[in-house]
Amino acid sequence: MPSEIQIPWDWYIVRASALVGFLLLYVSIFIGTVSCLPGIKKYFLRLKSLNFHCWISLQALIFALFHGVALLFHQFIKFSFADVFVPFHSSFEPILVGLGTSGFYLMLILVATSYARKYISAKIWRSIHFLNIGLYIVVIIHAFYLGTDLKTGLLREIFIWANGFLILLLLLNMINRIWSRAKNLPIICENPILNENLRPGYPAGGEKRSPENFRRRI
Ligand code: HEM
Repeated sequence: MPSEIQIPWDWYIVRASALVGFLLLYVSIFIGTVSCLPGIKKYFLRLKSLNFHCWISLQALIFALFHGVALLFHQFIKFSFADVFVPFHSSFEPILVGLGTSGFYLMLILVATSYARKYISAKIWRSIHFLNIGLYIVVIIHAFYLGTDLKTGLLREIFIWANGFLILLLLLNMINRIWSRAKNLPIICENPILNENLRPGYPAGGEKRSPENFRRRI
């Protein structure tokens, strides 16, 4: 009688939730970036809604949490609660798993501060929001070097090219910001929460960030 084949559902769930979480995070960062890029941002007007940007980040966080919790049920590698939720505690690949845990907390901070943006000054919110670059780097390293599905094959190719493309957009965005600052130009993003004047008292071109502008642009 043939021996019964065990389907490792726990492992599939860990991997599937990780890939969906990463995809959602990618979409969120992509929208945040293209909504600031001159020349391209007009093509993304339908996606510019701040609520969508926040909502998709929240979904990414939920999938990342699911991915972490699913590891607690992993049959082959035993993960304790602390292994998953205390950075660099795991004895299995402590650095790479720790980067995943750190990424999870960075996501938590970014989502929480975006939903609580009304209670935070624009300057503090913006400083916190720059953590998304760190989050992106940390999660790319975590996924690329730890993930089973990203070791070989088509998924690996897609991962490399898609992330290369987004990194290029992030660099263009950064160059645009530095250039605009140097020339004293307004930095206007289609996404209303990103459309703030970085220079206090900035007069021309851009709108001041005010509750009226905020409501109107949403
Ligand atoms: C809660 C803390 C986290 C822990 C403990 C953790 C742990 C792990 C582990 C052990 C793997 C290897 C799974 C395998 O292929 O066998 C993995 C893969 C992966 N993780 Fe995480 N992770 C965490 C957070 C995150 C976050 C925040 C993201 C991004 C949304 C993420 C995205 C990924 C991706 C994309 C993979 C590759 C999946 C694959 O190749 O199938 N992880 N993670």
